[in-house]
Amino acid sequence: MPPSKWKTCNPEGKRRVIVTKDLPGSRWLKILTRADCRVEIDTSTEPLSLAEIQSAIGDRCDGAIGQLTEKWGEELFAALQGAGGHVYSNYAVGFNNIDVSAATRYGIAVGNTPGVLTETTAEMAVALTFAAARRTGEAERFLRSGKYNGWLPTLFLGKLLWRKTLGIVGMGRIGSAYARMMAEGHRMNVLYFDLYPNPMLEEEIAAFGIFLKSHGEEPVSCRRVKHLEELLQTADCVSIHTVLDDSTRHLFNSHRLSLMKENAILVNTSRGPVIDEAALVDHCRRRSEFRAALDVFEEEPRLKPGLAELENVVIVPHIASATGWTREGMAILAAGNVSAVLLGYPAWKSPDISPFIGDLPPRAAPSILNAGELNIPVYKQ
Ligand code: DGY
Repeated sequence: MPPSKWKTCNPEGKRRVIVTKDLPGSRWLKILTRADCRVEIDTSTEPLSLAEIQSAIGDRCDGAIGQLTEKWGEELFAALQGAGGHVYSNYAVGFNNIDVSAATRYGIAVGNTPGVLTETTAEMAVALTFAAARRTGEAERFLRSGKYNGWLPTLFLGKLLWRKTLGIVGMGRIGSAYARMMAEGHRMNVLYFDLYPNPMLEEEIAAFGIFLKSHGEEPVSCRRVKHLEELLQTADCVSIHTVLDDSTRHLFNSHRLSLMKENAILVNTSRGPVIDEAALVDHCRRRSEFRAALDVFEEEPRLKPGLAELENVVIVPHIASATGWTREGMAILAAGNVSAVLLGYPAWKSPDISPFIGDLPPRAAPSILNAGELNIPVYKQ
């Protein structure tokens, strides 16, 4: 591998771990060094190709931490197994870039980093929602280009979301955190579409509704819909928080976009391919009152032609999880996954991963997706 891009930490470590991008904070590195790992880190900012990762794995590699920009499938898992590897951790909660069954076939444990992105990502969905509703991107461009000649009653009229209807597609952890922020903070009524009901959230919002009523205010509600179409037709703002798989790829196609209100807002902080981006460009071109706010794109880092020119679209470069706390937490969890598997520790089962961020982390792997298939024992308190 080209020496200039890679730095080695703890060169005398007995186990060899490659990390395909440098990670924030220092604790993750301590976790790996304490597990007697020599850690080789790619310090470049360019995504690595498959061939570059294969060459970094080389003929001896015990584990790897990789990025969502890399396709971890048959070839890389075969290479990792061939080099004596046992574990791979994504530096992400999403794992649509990983072929987990291929990893299982090669006996490679696969980790991800749930729990530390929840509020951070939900906050970004809120930020994007209001950036779209209140046209902050357009207004800033206008101001910076010297066009502002003074306050006007009609300048950049936006959309008030207070007490409007919110549609959430995918009511997992991030969707629920976003729902709370919008229902409790902005009194929005929530409709959601998910394979599974979320009774805890429904109860919480119902209890908040009772509280509001007892103070003479209109209550808010939270209801699961059976058909996505109902949500699309009713919601003033739709936020996407689903995983990307075959059932959600292009879930938002031109037909479903056409069901949404003329002046609705569509927010996506999940994965780009959930939206047919070319169809969205066409939709936003034809409906200037419609707004979209995107953190993720169908073919990252490329944008579909025309998207960047649309004034009614807010775009940011996949930064929804980008707070120092979250990104350091993700690094700790990824390093925890790799070191724990190499040390033969069991797998943590609870969705609460906060003990791993605290001072006395359990001797367990925080999140191994194929622990059951690989017969990795479950951690017992
Ligand atoms: C993830 O972890 O899946 C996120 O997309 C990173 O921001």
